Parts: sequence; C-alpha cells; structure tokens
Amino acid sequence: MLKSVIVLVRTLGTSKPNLILSQTRFASQALPQLSATKYNVRRKDFGVVQSEDVNYFKSILSEEQVLTEESDVLPFNIDWIKNCRGQTKVVLKPKSTQQVSQILAYCNERRLAVCPQGGNTGLVGGSVPVFDEIVLSLGSMNKIISLDETSGALVCEAGCILETLDNYVRDRNLIMPLDLGAKGSCHIGGNVSTNAGGLRLLRYGNLHGSVMGLEAVKADGTIVDCLRTLKKDNTGYHLKHLFIGSEGTLGLVTKVAVHCPVLPKAQTLGFFGVKDFDSVLRLYRSAKASLGEILSAFEMADNYSIQSTSKNLNLPNPIADFPFYVLVETHGSDETHDSEKLNRFLEREMGSGLILDGTVASEPAKMQTIWNLRESIAGAGLLEGYVYKYDVSIPVGHYYDLVPKLRERMKGVTTKVYGYGHIGDGNIHINVTVPKYSKQATALLEPYIFEEVAKLKGSISAEHGVGFRKPQFVHYSKDPAALDLMRDLKRLMDPNGILNPYKVLPDP
Ligand code: FAD
Ligand code: MLT
Ligand code: ZN
Repeated sequence: MLKSVIVLVRTLGTSKPNLILSQTRFASQALPQLSATKYNVRRKDFGVVQSEDVNYFKSILSEEQVLTEESDVLPFNIDWIKNCRGQTKVVLKPKSTQQVSQILAYCNERRLAVCPQGGNTGLVGGSVPVFDEIVLSLGSMNKIISLDETSGALVCEAGCILETLDNYVRDRNLIMPLDLGAKGSCHIGGNVSTNAGGLRLLRYGNLHGSVMGLEAVKADGTIVDCLRTLKKDNTGYHLKHLFIGSEGTLGLVTKVAVHCPVLPKAQTLGFFGVKDFDSVLRLYRSAKASLGEILSAFEMADNYSIQSTSKNLNLPNPIADFPFYVLVETHGSDETHDSEKLNRFLEREMGSGLILDGTVASEPAKMQTIWNLRESIAGAGLLEGYVYKYDVSIPVGHYYDLVPKLRERMKGVTTKVYGYGHIGDGNIHINVTVPKYSKQATALLEPYIFEEVAKLKGSISAEHGVGFRKPQFVHYSKDPAALDLMRDLKRLMDPNGILNPYKVLPDP
C-alpha cells in the first residue's frame, strides 16, 4: 500500500542544506597521494612560478586575492572525492573579467600553466592541479548582473553558486534549468564548463540549450564577448558551445546568460519500490506515456545504493527494502490536472504490480527528505573507503547490465558495486567501493568497464566530463578524426597549452 496518498501541491521553498558535501569534506584527515605519483605523470615543460611572478600578481590583485600559504592553498589542491592531489603553490582569486584577462595574458607570456577552479565539486579530477599549475579560483566573481523576468534570462558572473541563483530566481517565480546534489557548492561557471546534467535534464534539457550566451577569456587574455540573451542568434559559428563542456581547457568562463524556466506551480515526488530492473524500465515507459509533459525527473537506484546511503549517513528511507527504487517527479502548472494524471498512473501501476510499495509527497519537507536520500548516494560510499566512480551513458535496454557483470568480476575484492542514476537520460552512475585504492582493483575495472561501454555504443562520460582521470579512455567514445579536431581547436585557442594541462585531451 502507498504510504501517503497524493496531496497536490505547493511551491517548493528554498532547497535543503547539502549535508553530504560538508560531511565528506571534513570526514577524512588523511591526505590523498599526489596525483603525479599515483598516476605516474610527467610534468610538461611549463615555467615555474618565481617570486617575481607572485609580486606581479600582487601588483594587479589585492593581497587577499593571492594565496601562497601552504595551509591556504591545500583545499584547492584536493578534489571532492579525495582522489587527486595537486601541488600548486599559488591560488589567485580574481574579482573581474579584466583581472582574469590580465592574469592569463601574463601566464601565457611566461608559459605558466593554469587550473581553473569553480566550486571544486568535479568528480573526474579536472578542477585541481596535477603539478604546480596556478589555481584560478572564480569564487569571488559572484555577482548577479540582471534578470529579465519576462524572458527568464539570468545574467551573472561565473562564480555564483548554483543554489544561490536558484533561490534568487525562485523568489521571482523562475527556477534554474539544472539541479544537482552539489548545488550548495558548485558554481554556474563550473556547471557550464562541465556541461553538468543533473536531476531534471529529462525535462529542461542540457546547458547547450539553456545557456543563451557567455563571456570567456582565452589563454592569451583575449576577452570573447558572446554574452547575448537571445533565444535565436544565427550569426555565424555558435562559439559559446566551445566553452560549454570543455572543462577549462579552451578558456575561462567569466559570465553566463542562462534561460530560467517558470517555477512550476504544482510539484510532486513519488518514491517507489520495484522487484527488478525490467520493472524499472516498464515503469519508465508507463510514466512517459501517462505523465507526458509534467514528468520532470525519473531516477533509479538499486538496493545497495539506497540502503548503504541510508545507513552510512543515518538518513531515513521512507519505504521498505526493495531490489530497486524509482523516483518520479512532476512539475506542472495545474494542481487538479496534474494530480489526476498522477493518480491514474499510480492506480494502473499498483494494479499491474509494477509498483510494489511507495510514497508520494507534495510537501516541500517530505520531498526534500526523499531527494536528499537520492542525492547523497554520491558521497555516502566515501565513508566506507575509496570509491571508483563511473558515469556512463548506455542505451536504456542495457542500462544496468554492467553492474552484475562487475559484481562477478570484483568477487574477492569487493561486493560493493552499485548503480543509480538518471535513467531518463540513459545515464548510469556505477560506483565501486573498496577499503583502499589499489592497483589490483583499478586493473580489474579499467579499461574493462570502458570496453564494455564501447561495445554497447555508449559514452564513457555521460555528464561528469573527462577531466584528469579519463583522457586515456576518451578514444572509446571519440573517433580519431574527432580527437584530431579537438587537438586542432586546443592548438588554435591555447597554443602554449597553459589551460588545464593533463586534462581532457589524451597525449598523442
Ligand atoms: P569544479 O569542480 O571547480 O570544476 C570542474 C571543471 O570545470 C574543471 O575542469 C575546472 O577546471 C573547470 N572550470 C570550473 N569553473 C570554470 C570556469 N569558470 N571557466 C572554465 N573552466 C572552469 N555533475 C552532473 O553533471 N550531474 C550531477 O547530477 C552531478 N551531481 C553531483 C553531485 C555531487 C554531490 C557532486 C560532488 C558532484 C556532482 N556532479 C554532477 C559533478 C560536477 O561536475 C558538478 O558538481 C559541477 O558541474 C562542477 O561545478 P564546480 O563549480 O564545482 O566546478
Ligand atoms: C549524481 O547523479 O548523484 C551525481 O552525478 C553524482 C554521482 O555520480 O555520484
Ligand atoms: Zn548524475
């Protein structure tokens, strides 16, 4: 029996505090091994920062915008999952596009490598240096510039935190077109640079559609102004797309114009237990057919994902133990119409036996509890040891195939192989938790997992990007001519290769 009947609907208030982010950030005192040693990387031939360089930075920035103390720069060297550790000695915190431009022009001249950093929530090691690249942290560029409440065009600086933007536009009856577990820390510039997907891509599309324009700074300091707020603009090449998803390797994103959809008047969230993966797929087909335009998210998680998250973080699971869980969200504009649709869907699928049990909520606090459980899966495994995180797109018919295969393959090493993700986008996150990072576990997982994904004609990185961890595997998803074109673009836009080296592009 469903634990609560549908009571539609209310406007969501501000989003929840992000528990998992603060917990994991301070959970482990041990420093990760240096990336250069762990992954056996050779430093490229860049300049080394000298005291004259620091003096130059101090001459164009104020004292507090130039960090050089070891304890101050340490957090900028370590990534969110505590897998990668760089060795930067300098962090710069520009406050304007002009300052970014001056810094880059100087670094380019001196051949000093740079690592752009937003909220440092990236999951592929792209946001932290590998060696002594200067970290350019955008956190002080956090001004909201304008909001057109009629068109929904929000213009802001790249260092604005996603949740802050969402709260701002919600007060004006709009929402941000993307939402993700890291919203309390990640920046819009980081989201754009990773082309972040998130929980509602199914409904609101990806950032290539939502970003109306942007301003970026090239490696040589040239400011490229494509900051338009137009829905339509076919004047030549669509240059903004080069910066969306290029992970800081082609330029620094300094300002963004994003299209914000209208805040839905009616919202509901269902959390259901089903007996097997086939039922997840059948429920997805049924939800699309029954809910149509109001379906805003369709997420799945297997038993281990939910049970371990609930246990590790002491979060309530509102329903009992099931092999698979499904989360269905609706965003609509008419309470009565939406509730009729959802009721019909529930009646049918409870009757058919696809939904074994579940709960439906429309009160903000209850919805938050459910979302919190789903969003916390990302970090819950970090409390048990080291987590290998894979983020792949697979045609939905084969979406879950790899999880049981990996469980079999990892026998004797770990039993903690679990899958969850954005099934509506064909994007599964496969996590493998082991007590400690080991070469043996790595060798069993890589390149095996990427080979399997390639056989299924999937993508080895659906939404987290390539970063530092995956350039050597990118060929599983990109053909040689496409990779050559990527290298050509890199040479054109960053001839000295100073922007985020060791990331995205494999060495030839
Ligand atoms: P960072 O981590 O600081 O940087 C990410 C990359 O972008 C790096 O390569 C960096 O060099 C570059 N970069 C950052 N800012 C700029 C800039 N202004 N200009 C140029 N380059 C820049 N991702 C998803 O797609 N979907 C999810 O659902 C999702 N959920 C997550 C949940 C959690 C709990 C966590 C920790 C991460 C999640 N992520 C998700 C991954 C991550 O990509 C996003 O959190 C986010 O987009 C990264 O933004 P950031 O500001 O933290 O960027
Ligand atoms: C998610 O969907 O939760 C995020 O992409 C983070 C993760 O992969 O764990
Ligand atoms: Zn995700």
